[in-house]
Amino acid sequence: MSAPAVSRGALLPLYAQPDLELERGERCHVWDTGGRRYLDFTAGIAVTALGHASPVVRGAIESALSRGLVHTSNLYRTRPAVELAELLVEGSFPGGVFFCNSGAEANEAAFKFARRWAGTTAGPGKHEFVAFRGSFHGRLFGTLAATDRPAYREPFLPVMPGVRFADVGDVRGVEASLSGGTVAAVIIEVVQGEGGVRPIPPDFLSALRGLCDQHEALLIFDEIQCGLGRTGRLFAWQHAGVVPDLMTLAKPLAGGLPMGAVVASDRVAETLKPGDHATTFGGGPLVASVGAAVTRTIADPAFLERVQELGRHLVSGLESLAGRSARVRTVRGLGLMRGLVLDGPAAPVVTAAREGGLLVVPAGPDVVRIVPPLTITEAEIDEGLDILERALTAS
Ligand SMILES: Cc1ncc(COP(=O)(O)O)c(C=O)c1O
Repeated sequence: MSAPAVSRGALLPLYAQPDLELERGERCHVWDTGGRRYLDFTAGIAVTALGHASPVVRGAIESALSRGLVHTSNLYRTRPAVELAELLVEGSFPGGVFFCNSGAEANEAAFKFARRWAGTTAGPGKHEFVAFRGSFHGRLFGTLAATDRPAYREPFLPVMPGVRFADVGDVRGVEASLSGGTVAAVIIEVVQGEGGVRPIPPDFLSALRGLCDQHEALLIFDEIQCGLGRTGRLFAWQHAGVVPDLMTLAKPLAGGLPMGAVVASDRVAETLKPGDHATTFGGGPLVASVGAAVTRTIADPAFLERVQELGRHLVSGLESLAGRSARVRTVRGLGLMRGLVLDGPAAPVVTAAREGGLLVVPAGPDVVRIVPPLTITEAEIDEGLDILERALTAS
């Protein structure tokens, strides 16, 4: 039996948490205060890509601390931020990088950069955005405006004006929005995460690229959840070979420390000048040192090949589970970002899995999301899928 978890105390009631207090972690496992071990298929919602207690993360933290600089502000340059920016540009496309502290902040910055680019190249009036049904880009006022979740938006209206929604796959609808000449940028997650683990078809990404070029709008890929190795490529858009103008990153970037980034292509970068955007903490020497160590580890072709191998193992296990359980409609995703689509609510299955010793997280009402550390093993995947199968039967 687990020891009783600490109560919420003075924390605001914003998270619906089970009565569970986590105390420590190692690789793909976490332990509660009663010493019970859980296999972690959430990785803190696609964050701890190298697992808990990663020697890479720990080594980078220790070496940064030994230099004594945790934070300096952006009044001055520090080497780790420059190094990490170079790694991200080398792995994606020529341009420059802005560092911030979360996914929502990265998307907010990308919106500002798109408006600066559009204002500089086309003048006023080109300030709108196109986002997609099923999207999740964050919970700040700009990103909430581009997030297709009525329950998240409605209590806080009005959000930022000027976002038009289109359906994924509806090329004509996007074209109609762009043809008025008022759209600065189109934003899309290459694999929709919160919206149910839905990879966007490569031909649609390439149609968006064509439309943005034709109508002089920017293409923003939100790689906050699907980026940095999660799908078996460094960035998910590399499966489709469609290159964006702006790319946003966050979750796994600093191994669990809070960090976000925007990579802006040269033509966008050229329109930015000092004072256009800033944040006090962005790209500090501690987080950037960890970001560089994590990115270097993940960008290794052998590491990415291993993620692809594990992704194939996971999907074949999920498909055979789907074949045995009438409750599973389908399996979606790429690499180690998979969704088990059920015939009913995912929440009871998530609870039953936790009671069985496996942590998973829903993605929308009826999808069980599986985003384990990228360092998981085949045996751990099999163990987790056995627990999940029992949870499907029990719930
Ligand atoms: C695709 C995507 N974009 C943006 C965000 C927002 O990131 P954060 O929670 O760090 O603000 C998330 C978070 O889940 C996400 O999955």
